Amino acid sequence: MRADRAEAAGPPIGECARIVRERGGTRPQVHIVLGSGLGGLAERVEGAVRVYFSQLPGFPRTSVAGHEGCLLVGRIAGTPVLVQSGRFHFYEGFGAEIVAAPVRVGRALGAGTLVLTNASGGIRPDLVPGALMLVDDHINLGFQAPLAGPVVPGEVRFPDMSRPYDPELMALAEEVALGAGIRLTRGVYGWVGGPNFETPAEVLALRAAGADVVGMSTVPEAIVARAGGQRVLAISVVTNRAAGLGLEAVDHEDVMAWGAVAGEGLGRVVEGVVGGVGGGGGGRTEGGEG
Ligand code: HPA
Repeated sequence: MRADRAEAAGPPIGECARIVRERGGTRPQVHIVLGSGLGGLAERVEGAVRVYFSQLPGFPRTSVAGHEGCLLVGRIAGTPVLVQSGRFHFYEGFGAEIVAAPVRVGRALGAGTLVLTNASGGIRPDLVPGALMLVDDHINLGFQAPLAGPVVPGEVRFPDMSRPYDPELMALAEEVALGAGIRLTRGVYGWVGGPNFETPAEVLALRAAGADVVGMSTVPEAIVARAGGQRVLAISVVTNRAAGLGLEAVDHEDVMAWGAVAGEGLGRVVEGVVGGVGGGGGGRTEGGEG
């Protein structure tokens, strides 16, 4: 851990939220984070106003290919949303205050619901490239604590994690998927720090630990959101068989390509969930100012 962690304040959340609010106009109900190769969802945002990370004080550039680095304010299925294309990872060398910052900005804007998407490697036999998995629990094998440091106003020191992913939102996602003929199973997301992919022995260890997929994101954001009382839904797009389980080496290009293929189904599920959260009318707001 870095020596300056306790003093690290991170980006000024209120100021970032003010900038996004001024440009975007609407107050988002749902904050959606797009994973690697899943940027296609951004095209579903109606009337999108873009705010680039570079326009927000204290926000660094993301360094990962396939992560654009901007926030889109607009509507999906009539519901006001904040769509985040690009996220910060511990493996980029960022501290907890940076990794958590976008979630805190979304909350400060009024988003009571956080929808996280990610790419992952399938461990369970049925989780092959292109499959969608509803994350119903996770295991923190990244051994990083996104809440380390001073307690941020609006968050609790020791958040309960017995139900990290919202049961009602999961049921809604399943209903939408069923209606659209999209297969969506539940499973456990094993979070690793990355950026290297796993060894086959590590994948066997993950399997023994109870992970159905493995990935390098989502868990820090889910923890921060729960600490601040937001409802969380996470959907994983399986882009490859985890190391040692498939015939090929794991490759970021494949992750991106499969993300684009499965992104269509993911987009339909997310659109249905967002419409359901907003009640279809799109006029309601929820959540506090933060
Ligand atoms: N491991 C970790 N993260 C990933 C993988 C994987 O196999 N695929 C996509 N993201």
